[in-house]
Amino acid sequence: MKRTLLAVLITVAAAIALVAGVVLFVVYTGVYNVAATTSHAGITNWALNTLQHSSVSRRAKDIDGAAPADSAALAAGFHHFHAMCVQCHGAPGFGRGELGQGMAPTPPRLEEEAHEWTDPELFWITKHGIRLAGMPAFGPTHSDEDIWGIVGFTRALETMTEEDYAELVRARTAAMEEGGEEAAGGHSHAPGTAPHSH
Ligand code: HEC
Repeated sequence: MKRTLLAVLITVAAAIALVAGVVLFVVYTGVYNVAATTSHAGITNWALNTLQHSSVSRRAKDIDGAAPADSAALAAGFHHFHAMCVQCHGAPGFGRGELGQGMAPTPPRLEEEAHEWTDPELFWITKHGIRLAGMPAFGPTHSDEDIWGIVGFTRALETMTEEDYAELVRARTAAMEEGGEEAAGGHSHAPGTAPHSH
């Protein structure tokens, strides 16, 4: 009995030492390729996607609220979306910008994938970001009201044509030519920008 227990303990200790050895080997030798020009292996992709979904849905469960559909919220949402999301995710009639093209995992087209998430989940992702994937958090710089506007606009994207989106861009450009960026509701976000609502 004692001998069996000892054998089990030795086996467990050897297994732990082996795992620790492999982890240290990978961490210190640089054999793991961190390049964004290489995609994750299939199993890593599966694990990361499943982890993202379960983590987001657990945390968004207690959020009350729904994507607004009124025109003021959607207009504000569009200005933020066009200033901060298009360069990575693209939009109807717009390809991903250089930022989005260089990322792994590739930022998904939201007009195609947003339906996989509930409104509170979209809110949570936009507010908190996804650390493992490189999706930025907009909560540190934007009010909840701004973020709900972005969620409303993300939902509206699902049924938007390229022409609809182009029309919004034309109106935004015209407003900016007349009254500057603030007049269009869009604005650049310098490092250190405090939470604000406009
Ligand atoms: C710097 C690039 C970048 C910017 C800017 C960006 N995102 Fe993302 N986003 C990502 C990446 C990368 C992912 C994760 C992709 C993955 O895991 O497959 C992601 C994931 C998401 C997801 C989850 C989609 C899914 O099905 O996995 C949502 C929703 C989202 N972003 C919304 C937004 C919104 C709204 C904005 C603008 C306010 C924005 N993102 C700005 C890179 C970006």
